[in-house]
Amino acid sequence: MTNFGQVRFEDIVKMHGDFAALKRVNFEIEPGEFFALLGPSGSGKSTTLRILAGLDAPTAGRVFIDGKDVTSVDARDRDIAMVFQSYALYPHMTVAENIAFPLEMANLRKAEIGPAVKDAARKVKIEHLLDRKPGQLSGGQQQRCALARAIVRKARLFLLDEPLSNLDAKLRLETRAELKKLQRSLGVTAVYVTHDQEEAMTLADRMAVFMAGEIQQVGTPAEVFARPNSVDIAGFIGNPPMNLIPARYIDGSVVIAGRPFKTMAGAAGECDVIVGLRPSALRFASDGLKAHVDLVEDLGDTAVLDLDCAGTTLRMRVGESVPREGDLISIMAHPQDIHLFDPTTRKRL
Ligand SMILES: Nc1ncnc2c1ncn2[C@@H]1O[C@H](COP(=O)(O)OP(=O)(O)OP(=O)(O)O)[C@@H](O)[C@H]1O
Ligand SMILES: [Mg+2]
Repeated sequence: MTNFGQVRFEDIVKMHGDFAALKRVNFEIEPGEFFALLGPSGSGKSTTLRILAGLDAPTAGRVFIDGKDVTSVDARDRDIAMVFQSYALYPHMTVAENIAFPLEMANLRKAEIGPAVKDAARKVKIEHLLDRKPGQLSGGQQQRCALARAIVRKARLFLLDEPLSNLDAKLRLETRAELKKLQRSLGVTAVYVTHDQEEAMTLADRMAVFMAGEIQQVGTPAEVFARPNSVDIAGFIGNPPMNLIPARYIDGSVVIAGRPFKTMAGAAGECDVIVGLRPSALRFASDGLKAHVDLVEDLGDTAVLDLDCAGTTLRMRVGESVPREGDLISIMAHPQDIHLFDPTTRKRL
């Protein structure tokens, strides 16, 4: 692993007129890390990436790369390679010329460019396509060409903005796995923007979850999944996401649809809460909460049920003994699987 490619954002603000696209964003990325910027549309992910790349200037705050303040350093001088959602290949150039382009710009000698292009093309498995034009490639091949053009420069930072979004589902999975292997073998730091939580969960060493111009949580995918620190994150992570139910907390239990559920999460005395319950945390129990099965979504190896519990809707994921629509079932959850959030601050309790 390299010792280059460390990133730090310090109190970064980005205003567009009165609108704050980023409100005091702080985070740090370690060298060699695969770091995802995850969040819904419009939450500020691309803005963050563009400020890191030097394509946009922040309104306030400072950006550091490897300890050096680069806030006013030109994009060209930041030693960063970037892959955008649209591949932005030059249509009139061959694949080889496209990959060579950044090296030509850097005034490398021809004798060095040829081997470097071959090497990058080999890493993403397109060495047999070097003489083609982008228009003669599939979406996935164009994607890999854009990746090759990014890695050819051996930059210390690799920025990717939704780079797989134009691929079909199968190719997206394949390219995703290749991308991770490639990043590992190159030892570079990767900053990866996506609104797809599954993509972030599978690729990232750590991720920052954005909501409305703010980072609400930073952690490993496992940490964020296990302990989402706000209602918004709880409702965003996991597929299907957590059930979020307004309820009353009374002395170590929450009351859902009239039935008490014991919880380990801490609150004092009696208060209103929002209960978070993963669909996978609900289980069958003989004397549990009575639920009417409204809908069964069969996903092959699992199924997702829409349940009606005296007017409260819950979703439940089941692996075996899938009930049928119209069935009446009885469900429970382990105390440690019950998350509590404050309905006012929307933060984890
Ligand atoms: N030039 C601009 N003028 C005004 N508002 C802007 C401008 N550029 C971006 N914004 C706003 O800033 C917010 C953040 O935009 P950004 O592109 O960072 O979102 P994003 O998280 O990448 O979303 P997506 O997943 O849709 O790509 C959005 O609400 C967007 O409308
Ligand atoms: Mg974006």
